[in-house]
Formats: sequence, C-alpha cells, structure tokens
Amino acid sequence: MSVAKRDDDMRKVTTHRLFEMKQRGEKISMLTAYDYSMATLIDQAGMDVILVGDSASNVMAGNTTTLPITLDQMIYHGRSVAKAVKRALVVVDLPFGSYQGNSKEALASAIRVMKETHADCIKLEGGSEVRESIERILCAGIPVMGHLGLTPQSINKFGTYTVRAREEAEAQKLVEDAHLLEEIGCFALVLEKIPAALAARVAKEIRIPVIGIGAGGDVDGQVLVMHDMLGINQGFSPRFLRRYANLAEDITHAVQQYIEDVKRCDFPNEKEQY
Ligand code: KIV
Repeated sequence: MSVAKRDDDMRKVTTHRLFEMKQRGEKISMLTAYDYSMATLIDQAGMDVILVGDSASNVMAGNTTTLPITLDQMIYHGRSVAKAVKRALVVVDLPFGSYQGNSKEALASAIRVMKETHADCIKLEGGSEVRESIERILCAGIPVMGHLGLTPQSINKFGTYTVRAREEAEAQKLVEDAHLLEEIGCFALVLEKIPAALAARVAKEIRIPVIGIGAGGDVDGQVLVMHDMLGINQGFSPRFLRRYANLAEDITHAVQQYIEDVKRCDFPNEKEQY
C-alpha cells in the first residue's frame, strides 16, 4: 500500500479550512482518537480532523453500545486528545443524554466540553428533533458537526446496526435533515451507513462538507474508528471497513514474546540494568 504524501501545511485546521477543502474538491481525512499518545501519532501523521467519538464507550470502556458513556468520561477523553493535537480540528461527541432533554441542557453540556477539553467543536446526532439544541449551541459560538443515517445513540429505536435510509420515506427525511442542518449553521455533517447514491446526492446538494462512514466514496471525506482500521478490534468486520494494520496480532506477538523472555530469564539482560 503506498503512503500518501503527508500534508506539510502545519497551520491549524479550522472549520473554514474544511469548507475551502470541499470547494476545492480536496478530500477530508477524519479518524477517532481517545487518548494522548494515539492522538499525538495521528496528528503528526497529518490527519485533518480527529474525532473523540462516543465510540469510546465501545472500544475504550467495553460497552456494547455508545449509550452508557457519560459527559465526564467524554470530557476526560477529549481533554487527553486536545492536549496532544497541534494541527487537526478536534471534535468531541456529546454523549447520549447530554443534549436530547432540552436545549438549555444541551448548551450546558457543549459549554462544559469546550471549557474543560479545549477541543474545537462538538458533534451530536439527529436532525429536526434536536434543532433547538443545535441552534442554542451555535448561538454560543460553538461549532456543531451533525450526524445522520445510522446514529448509534438511537440503536434501541432502530433495533439493528443495518444500513439506514434504504426506504424512500427515511431517505427523504435524511435529505431534509441534511438541508436543515446546513441552514441552521452546522459546519459539517457525518453520514453513517447509508446507500452510497443517497450520500452522494446529499454531498452534492449541500455546501458544507459531508464526511462518510459506510456511505460510499462520493462524499467530501471519510471517517473510521481508529481501533477498527488499525485492526485492534478483531470482532468487527462490516463491509465498509478497510483494515490498514493488524495490531491485534502484532500486540499479541509482542506481549507473548515479553512473557517468554521474562519466564526464561532473558529479560532484562546485562545492558538493560543499572
Ligand atoms: O463515535 C464515533 O466514533 C462516531 C463515528 C463512527 C463517526 O461517531
């Protein structure tokens, strides 16, 4: 696999720069991170956007859904990532239950994230149902990234992680929501696990960048969960996922080698002691 030339423009990525990238037809790269060390590597590799996703609930905390993660826990992960990042735009997910109740609560959650993590902006799931919350957060000067399609915080309503918006009515609502999110001022939109043709239509119709995950290639950028694309997460293989490493195997081999070295008194050797 060839390695892309690293973007050597070290200026901080802003929401405005993402908008310009879309206008130029330059694709946007986005990946999740949850801790300081990985965020440092991902930022240094030249990632445009780092998402502190509520997928932390799955990959960091071992929950089966994103629902249990708390605002305090998201703030912990967001602060660790923001501390590491010099160039990428840092987006923190508002977790389930921190913005759906009412717009005042949503604003309070978003303000906590911005004050306590030093991230650049927040992401939240949903369209017209959360319009008031988004508007209130935007009024406070906090940039908002939308998220439509398969919205994992609604998994109990969907009942399955299968592709969304295959039916006309759901596709129509998604298109309307995408336009609404643009109109009210979201700076970008994530589309998760929807038909590629529908995602392409949305990306063409709206001016803000559309970042896809399982939404085909005719959008303005792509996002993946870091543990999935690095092959740390072994049990998750949806069609849209491309694995760029097999770290589960590498880590297991390294750990087994260490155990063996300790057991046979090979580690530490004479040079590895004082
Ligand atoms: O939480 C997350 O990682 C996400 C991405 C899948 C877009 O929202």
